Amino acid sequence: MELIDGNNTAAQIVAELKAEVATISGRKPCLALVRVGDDPASVSYVKKKDQTAAEIGITSRVILPPVSTTQAELLALIDQLNADLSVDGILVQSPLPKHIDELTVFRRVSPQKDVDGFHTLNLGKVAQEDDSGFVACTPAGIMELIVRSGVKLSGKHVVVLGRSLIVGKPIALLAMQRKPFANATVTVCHSQTADLPSITRQADVLIAAIGKPEFVTADMVKPGAVVIDVGINRVPDATKKTGYRLTGDVHFPSVAPLCTKITPVPGGVGPMTVAMLMKNTLKAWRLAHA
Ligand code: GUN
Repeated sequence: MELIDGNNTAAQIVAELKAEVATISGRKPCLALVRVGDDPASVSYVKKKDQTAAEIGITSRVILPPVSTTQAELLALIDQLNADLSVDGILVQSPLPKHIDELTVFRRVSPQKDVDGFHTLNLGKVAQEDDSGFVACTPAGIMELIVRSGVKLSGKHVVVLGRSLIVGKPIALLAMQRKPFANATVTVCHSQTADLPSITRQADVLIAAIGKPEFVTADMVKPGAVVIDVGINRVPDATKKTGYRLTGDVHFPSVAPLCTKITPVPGGVGPMTVAMLMKNTLKAWRLAHA
């Protein structure tokens, strides 16, 4: 079993982007990070995004509307950022408070500044295999991790656990693209799938993105499979200072020995997501300068 090291791969990408940003004279790429309220996981993610931007030389603008912000106020803020010529990329951290409709918000971001890739137009471009748009950061990071760790998807059976807009749907579209590094046969499973283990056991590459701690157990995995764990779950742990520990959607101790390769949590897909956000921000800056 080999660990797929997301920290190391993300650090390489960050170094590549830093070198590229260093060649920019004049206005550097700028990313607006919008976080509504104080969801603890979101606080930590936005902080990491802000720090990584600074490391690369991308300007970041963190905007923190209170949890009481109305949908109309949030949409007005997005309109303002869309119109602001000094802003290249806009990210609205999910989840948003319950009184706000996420899809309405994601669709309000200008497609040219949609570094999260959640806008209808950018998701549609993934389906149409048009590389001019933005691919959502988590699926983009998974593909990059797969390619850079030498896993070949062509002709393989990729099973995706989860059908979310942020991960499940776009990773399925990417893995089946007519590209040399893709060309997979894809099955998407979800909460209504009958006899789930019989399907996951057919996976050459299993991508777990259901947000249930340690859901994937050894009986669900074919020996020799590659397992990509997208989950980042906080589970209570009294032995930790923070009172919790992070765990993936895969029960690592029982599954890892079966795999040829597996991503750890933390240190797998998570850091890649942030690196791809930075890559998208640079792409948005190029779009603005084309
Ligand atoms: N919440 C979990 N993943 C993401 C992501 O990729 N982007 C945003 N904006 N929120 C998230």
